[in-house]
Amino acid sequence: MIPIARPQMGEDEKSRVWEAMASGSLAQGPRVGEFEERFADFIGAAHAVATSSGTTALHLALLGYDIGRGDEVITVPFTFIASASSILYTGARPVFVDIDERTFTIDTQLIEGAITPRTKAIMPVSLYGLPAPMPAITEIAERHGLAVVEDACQAHGAAIGDRRSGTWGAGTFSFYPTKNMTTGEGGMLTTDDGALADRVRLLREHGMKVRYHHDVVGYNFRMTDIAAAIGLAQLPKLGAFNERRRAIAARYDRELRGVTIPAVPPGVTHVYHQYTIRVNRRDEFAERLKERGVGSAIYYPIPVHRQKPFIALGYGDEAYPVTDRLTEEVLSIPVHPSLSDDEVARVIEAVNATADELGPR
Ligand SMILES: Cc1ncc(COP(=O)(O)O)c(C=O)c1O
Repeated sequence: MIPIARPQMGEDEKSRVWEAMASGSLAQGPRVGEFEERFADFIGAAHAVATSSGTTALHLALLGYDIGRGDEVITVPFTFIASASSILYTGARPVFVDIDERTFTIDTQLIEGAITPRTKAIMPVSLYGLPAPMPAITEIAERHGLAVVEDACQAHGAAIGDRRSGTWGAGTFSFYPTKNMTTGEGGMLTTDDGALADRVRLLREHGMKVRYHHDVVGYNFRMTDIAAAIGLAQLPKLGAFNERRRAIAARYDRELRGVTIPAVPPGVTHVYHQYTIRVNRRDEFAERLKERGVGSAIYYPIPVHRQKPFIALGYGDEAYPVTDRLTEEVLSIPVHPSLSDDEVARVIEAVNATADELGPR
């Protein structure tokens, strides 16, 4: 079976992890600091703050902007649950806006209609490795005095023109094993706003700058030096990983038939965390790919507003038609950099044969 994801670990990861373990610095230490500096440089942001996960990076970004009870944050329901649950953790309410069906990212035409006097921030999600339309979102946010938190957990190295995801307002990244680069578990917040970075650092470490002197109630959302050691080995490879993903995607774009391939707006660099197609009779499609030895996955089978903890919050059944429709059609196929050319050819053959059987879309 060709798997949907396959993290790549090499000698560099092994020796750096062992070096961290042998040094005795196991929790947050010098490697975290070095990883933050290098990641900030890579993204092109002034500051980077490493965290225990992408979820805690999102949570801290919102707390860093002082978002809490009584506030509203605009995001999308077509995403991983952490985009919305991080808003709930702060006591604020997620206000969902539907997505653009071509790009799977927030429909900017709908944002202003969702803004109320309680709105504090917009959290677009750069899903599957395609940046959300950040310039338009930033322009709306500035006009209404709102913060911007880009959920770039799937968009390491994605860019609009020469500006990378993570350089608008606050950006958050996940280093979960399936992501374009990994630290096992881990996350990062990037920003040019020094005051935000300071506050996030404070909250990440139990509200203390001086050991055991706590200025505010904070959290333990730190990254370990062992995780940072993996990140330091992975980061120099991210460019090549992304190039391989993009080359495989380009081949899919050229050779897949009978399915809707991902749209990429002009001037945008998609890093294909997922290569997500839209297909006819999706569940059957996935089953037939499996029979042909090709793994696939649905991101995500239930939109956030229909997940159990969110139903009680009363989002309405008809509110997000594009999200509901695409939830039934999307299927992600393997695009990870460790695929061989032969495996890529087998994926293409399997998708095309299945589309021939089930009819084009
Ligand atoms: C869009 C999105 N947001 C947030 C997260 C949360 O990241 P993590 O799993 O590192 O907590 C993820 C990762 O799965 C994600 O894909």
